[in-house]
Amino acid sequence: MARITAGVATSHVPAIGAALDNGKSGEPYWAPVFAGYEFSKKWISEQKPDVVILVYNDHATAFSLDMVPTFAIGCAEEFQPADEGWGPRPVPVVKGHPQLASHIAQSVIQDDFDLTIVNKMDVDHGLTVPLSLLFGQPEAWPCLVIPLAVNVVLYPPPSGRRCYELGRALRRAVESFDQELNVQVWGTGGMSHQLQGPRAGLINKAFDNDFLDRIVDSPEELSRVPHIDYVREAGSEGIELVMWLIMRGALNDDVTQRHRFYHVPASNTAVGHLVLENS
Ligand code: DHB
Ligand code: FE
Repeated sequence: MARITAGVATSHVPAIGAALDNGKSGEPYWAPVFAGYEFSKKWISEQKPDVVILVYNDHATAFSLDMVPTFAIGCAEEFQPADEGWGPRPVPVVKGHPQLASHIAQSVIQDDFDLTIVNKMDVDHGLTVPLSLLFGQPEAWPCLVIPLAVNVVLYPPPSGRRCYELGRALRRAVESFDQELNVQVWGTGGMSHQLQGPRAGLINKAFDNDFLDRIVDSPEELSRVPHIDYVREAGSEGIELVMWLIMRGALNDDVTQRHRFYHVPASNTAVGHLVLENS
């Protein structure tokens, strides 16, 4: 059977992708950001996941404001890097796992979570930047990827509680898939940031570090934090952090923290990153 072996959380700042794509990752501003991923790159080259279920949000790229699903699962054979206004990122095409994705849709929907089925979708920085951070700049991504898009752009977003429970349902789905697969779940976005309005540039290090503590040790309690607390404390885009709870819900109650990284600044965002293994 397929098994969820580990979870990864990471910010997905688009400027990180631009720094890599334009050969600027060694510059003084960016070097400390990439240094925070050195452990993880080595770790994942040893873990060799077959499939990553990559929880991210589409930033009005594939979904316009005409149609915004709360949760959407990518069931296609492949997903092209999106053109977000300055051409697609020069990164490999993302190869999916249609059989596992369809199985997850079947299992999770019958388990009372409504997922939108997506059979064609371009993937934006929310999905490709985390891949670049963990895998660098390969010719082809070394694993299959199932995109799981969460709406945190158009209000109302799903609650942390629902995200955590969806993670639980994801785990039941993966563990009932009749194929030997090493599966990881990644949660992306955050940490504190606000891109617009009078509070643009907001960073809250105390909130972020408390979140990093609690998502490892007391995720059940953390999942009860209402969405308005994220917006108030971590900024309007800080709400992206609820996606980390899907990753955490898919893991054991007890996990081993292999790596923790926090860095400010990266563009407008506090970068946070965790590597968690199922004990
Ligand atoms: C930034 C961060 C994001 O998560 C995002 O989606 C867009 C921009 C930023 O810090 O600039
Ligand atoms: Fe974002």
